[in-house]
Amino acid sequence: MSDKRPVVIDLRFARESVVAALRSAFPDRPVIDMGDPANADRDLSEAEFAVVWKPDPALFRRATGLKAIFSGGAGVDHILSTYELPDLPIVRFVDRSLTDRMSEWVVWQCLHHLRNGIAYASQQRDRVWHEIAEQPEARDVTVGVMGLGVLGADSVRKLQVMGFNVIGWSRTAKVIEGVETFDASGLTSFLAGTDILVGLLPLTEDTRGLYDRSLFSRLRRTGPLGGPVFLNAGRGGSQKENELIECLADGTLKAASLDVFEKEPLAGESPLWSMPNVIITPHAAAASEVRSLFRHVENQIARLERGEPLEFVVNRTSGY
Ligand code: NDP
Ligand code: OXD
Repeated sequence: MSDKRPVVIDLRFARESVVAALRSAFPDRPVIDMGDPANADRDLSEAEFAVVWKPDPALFRRATGLKAIFSGGAGVDHILSTYELPDLPIVRFVDRSLTDRMSEWVVWQCLHHLRNGIAYASQQRDRVWHEIAEQPEARDVTVGVMGLGVLGADSVRKLQVMGFNVIGWSRTAKVIEGVETFDASGLTSFLAGTDILVGLLPLTEDTRGLYDRSLFSRLRRTGPLGGPVFLNAGRGGSQKENELIECLADGTLKAASLDVFEKEPLAGESPLWSMPNVIITPHAAAASEVRSLFRHVENQIARLERGEPLEFVVNRTSGY
């Protein structure tokens, strides 16, 4: 019998994926899986670590002996904004597969807008054979990435490989080869040079409602796509959805690709569903792979037990 204290798992992920991943995870440590109804009333005071995604609010009251909390995703707003949390380290999920998936989504959507994907899909539905004369190259288009963290930096690199001119914006100044970067104070200049805006920001007090009419109307309007395009795969709480819809309707924005929404799932009656210039994916840009998540948690626990500091710890003051 292991003398190690348990790790408690409360992940609102597809149940089968959690159960399958738990078969080979945490071999030398007891696991309390809160998705198993048999554990509903279990005493959690012995648990040493928690792995959570949108957990039951009671969890942090019941698990009084925790040493660290591991987020099941890269974003931590789901915990920081919802619960009264104990004063413990919160560790984000940083993982190659998640990062690769996000960059795939960003590059996919940028190429889709570059290559008239919306217009050609519509023509196909109508059986129309018509070559659109204008075919700008990636090098003619500037993609402005908001958020130059783990995900933003990787997307920047892969957009560059595709030939896009890439610029970036983040809270603090960054140096990235071949990329003009702007810190928080350079927002207006950054927007003025951007044809495709990519949102990869965490949701914090500072970024809530940031994507509004005022911001969209400062994007470049003279670029080769015929109007600015907005992509958001960060958090929906950063967009003012009513203003976004108006801007898509009145031409302030030419088009958008949205993976995240103010309220998820997106309500059936939202006008976004039927707007011809909008592409919707259901918060699926970069899924957390559960096996990788558990491996990452095991690695971090091992670091702690070797006396090394945890990695990817959230700064509770800045909120990410
Ligand atoms: P990081 O913490 O690594 O990077 C965050 C970036 O945002 C940093 O560059 C940071 O600036 C910048 N930033 C934060 N606040 C501000 C601000 N107020 N003004 C300007 N820049 C700011 O996060 P990740 O790259 O790992 O993830 C980003 C977000 O993507 C997550 O928080 C999550 O919400 C979302 N996400 C969405 C997924 C999906 O499937 N749709 C999947 C995974 C994540 P600085 O560098 O100066 O600190
Ligand atoms: C995340 C997400 O934060 O999937 O990882 O949104």
